[in-house]
Amino acid sequence: MQVFERAGLLTSFIENQKKQNHSVGFVPTMGALHRGHLSLVKHALRENDLVVVSIFVNPTQFNNAADLQKYPRVPEVDLKLLREAQTDVVFLPPVKEIYPNGTQSEEIDLNGLDRHMEGQFRPGHFQGVVTVVKRFFNIVKPTRAYFGEKDYQQLQIIRHMTQLHKLNVEIVSHPVERGPGGLALSSRNELMSLQQKEEAGFIHKALQWAQKNYRDFNPRQLQEALKARFEKSNLKLEYALVSDPESLEPLEEWSQKKGARLFIAAYMGEVRLIDNVPLF
Ligand code: PAJ
Repeated sequence: MQVFERAGLLTSFIENQKKQNHSVGFVPTMGALHRGHLSLVKHALRENDLVVVSIFVNPTQFNNAADLQKYPRVPEVDLKLLREAQTDVVFLPPVKEIYPNGTQSEEIDLNGLDRHMEGQFRPGHFQGVVTVVKRFFNIVKPTRAYFGEKDYQQLQIIRHMTQLHKLNVEIVSHPVERGPGGLALSSRNELMSLQQKEEAGFIHKALQWAQKNYRDFNPRQLQEALKARFEKSNLKLEYALVSDPESLEPLEEWSQKKGARLFIAAYMGEVRLIDNVPLF
């Protein structure tokens, strides 16, 4: 496994690989890797000759300095996991390498995909995400890039950014990987106690309940019913929203043509958790 810290050296290495007609799979991460990340790596390994994983805690996507500071950083453990997973290349750049002119986001048109949910509750977050992903795509020049449906809104926004800038990369999605009790795996889970993790399984139970019962409600009523269920739990619901899976606009009524996806954000203590499922 080769580890690069410099963008220029990585780009030269990749260009050389591409001359040999090798396809390049890319998995961008912020580290503190878990089975969710590793399943993206395995997915990429199955479909490409070479897999590059980046580990970079991107300062521009944190809308809160404390959140950035307490984000878990365990590069040595991550490198061990990636080596065991047979990763070919790891990109571990210092902040200056990605942001030579200061840690600021670019202004990229997100076509309203950031109007709701994470975009609404974390202002500036997606500008930071697309800024860093665009820079990584320019450095890594991947054939395919892999993103989890755990961050479904991010996935849709990256698809949009890639089309807008006509970037020559195929965006591949991967389903949400879950732990015991159905809790979506997340680096933030490690900030919870064992008991909190167990109780946070409630989010997945609520999503499953909605998948089974949504037909008894319209989208707004379903959101209200979920709110009421969360009031009886130890989680503080931030939003429960039923949206069009493509445009991410909230749905007023069910539409077989559009389909529907349910998105939840909730706090367990200080820890903010997100999850989502398709309803149909
Ligand atoms: P991070 O939260 O580290 O996630 C990296 C990738 O792993 C994302 O595509 C995310 O959706 C995926 N992932 C995380 N948990 C998952 C799970 N339980 N199941 C399936 N996939 C999962 O997302 C980011 O980093 C950053 O925003 C990034 C894209 C790297 C840009 O900084």
